[in-house]
Amino acid sequence: MKVLTVIDHPRRDSLTHAVAARLAKGLAAGGHEPVLHDLHAAGFDPRMPPADEPDWQDIDRKYSPAAEAEMARIRAADALVLIFPVWWWGLPAMSKGWIDRVFNRGFAYDGDRALPVRTLLFLGVAGSGRATYEKNRYDLAGEIQILHGIGHYCGVADTRLEYLYDSLGDAAAIQAILLRAEALGRDFAPAG
Ligand SMILES: Cc1cc2nc3c(=O)[nH]c(=O)nc-3n(C[C@H](O)[C@H](O)[C@H](O)COP(=O)(O)O)c2cc1C
Repeated sequence: MKVLTVIDHPRRDSLTHAVAARLAKGLAAGGHEPVLHDLHAAGFDPRMPPADEPDWQDIDRKYSPAAEAEMARIRAADALVLIFPVWWWGLPAMSKGWIDRVFNRGFAYDGDRALPVRTLLFLGVAGSGRATYEKNRYDLAGEIQILHGIGHYCGVADTRLEYLYDSLGDAAAIQAILLRAEALGRDFAPAG
């Protein structure tokens, strides 16, 4: 599968970028074709311009060239992965703005429209540990808002959400994160 991997981190030497590289390595080993797209390097503007607001009367509205270009990237892929650091228990503004502008009405939802990918994976690099997420139900919040509210809302039944916990931990924790990222790529398979 051609897997569009969208990376959101302002720093090239971040763990988030390292995770993306390991996921790509795993994808290639698993026979997939990773296509990396770094939103910060590309200069994507996450702010919503009027040109990208939906026209609720016209499901076939054309959006800004910048948003249409992102839609074309998605159309050219079989699967989509968003890799981001968890900020305030959710998506950073860059990822959120990309979704706001690109998962737009008529392209990703409403009528018979659905985001045109078979698999959608949200991969969050998380500073805190699993226990903190479970105790405070931040895991449930992500399932409702990201997995269900975005992925399922956009008609992608095979939407996955995974947190890579303890990103601020010791070398062993970092190693575990990178190994998991590689395994996720290697075992990335089409649904059904
Ligand atoms: C603005 C900001 C908000 C953060 N909020 C959270 C959070 O809500 N939950 C969490 O687990 N980690 C949080 N963190 C920690 C980041 O997830 C952590 O710094 C990141 O995963 C480390 O990877 P990186 O080197 O790729 O940035 C936050 C970090 C920043 C800078």
